[in-house]
Amino acid sequence: MTSSAVTSETMQPDLAETGEVQEKQPPEPKSESSGRAVFRVWRGDRQGGNLVDYTTSISPGMVVLDVIHQIQAEQANDLAVRWNCKAGKCGSCSAEVNGSPKLMCMTRLSELPLGKPVTVEPMRAFPPVKDLVADVSWNFRVKQRIKPFTARAPDAPDGTWRMDQSDVDRVQEFRKCIECFLCQDVCHVLRDHHLYDDFIGPRFLVHVAALEMHPLDVEDRMEELRRAHGIGYCNITKCCTKVCPEHITITDNAIIPLKERVVDKFFDPLGKLVNIFSRRSRVASPESPH
Ligand code: SF4
Ligand code: SF4
Ligand code: FES
Repeated sequence: MTSSAVTSETMQPDLAETGEVQEKQPPEPKSESSGRAVFRVWRGDRQGGNLVDYTTSISPGMVVLDVIHQIQAEQANDLAVRWNCKAGKCGSCSAEVNGSPKLMCMTRLSELPLGKPVTVEPMRAFPPVKDLVADVSWNFRVKQRIKPFTARAPDAPDGTWRMDQSDVDRVQEFRKCIECFLCQDVCHVLRDHHLYDDFIGPRFLVHVAALEMHPLDVEDRMEELRRAHGIGYCNITKCCTKVCPEHITITDNAIIPLKERVVDKFFDPLGKLVNIFSRRSRVASPESPH
């Protein structure tokens, strides 16, 4: 900014001449992310609820969680919202913003059309507890049904293992999961068809992939994947991959390889034989103390 520009902005002619003191008015909003905006927030509980409009001030740099906290502080002290880190790492603040599954703490207002009300609702795939808090406990029960990590016998007498770096790298991506359950929320098998008893959902297919592809794991989860975990219900729409805030390639890197393993095991006679012998050789390695 030039010095003449500073002078013309700070020395308004009428005030300079009259000496009148006036309270300085805030500048007009210069962008979509400053000024005031309407947030249409779902309020209710398991018995039902409705959308309530809140008009609130916004400023550059704000995220949706900031707005919710502001509404909570200024207009609705009893508004329930779950959050913890405000850094996209705890997976607590999952919600639906304008109908899309999002982490509220990572959704900038500058990404949203603020000329119309912004809707903020709890994840629809799970029952509401209160306002923006959904009951995600079904997910924890699902995890308990998955066979845990079972290491093969050590490779060396000192109790250590040997692994190829490429095998270690392969599962690293799956370990980035923050259990936000946004992928579960968007998956039509759960969200629209409500197959909670028959399908574990993309988050837990990622979990199974992390175990199955772990270079030390010897557990066999193929039978469960096919039947109890319902991998066949996934029709690779990739909606889960699109919403994952950790950018895990859920379908291509986890679900499709698991589907291939299930097909190899149950529908390909040659693959079935190879699978049996490779499992046996891993379990009964010569160094095994068992
Ligand atoms: S790709 Fe499969 S798991 Fe992912 S959202 Fe679609 S149906 Fe669900
Ligand atoms: S896989 Fe991605 S979207 Fe699904 S729970 Fe983990 S971090 Fe969230
Ligand atoms: S508050 Fe932790 S992910 Fe949003």
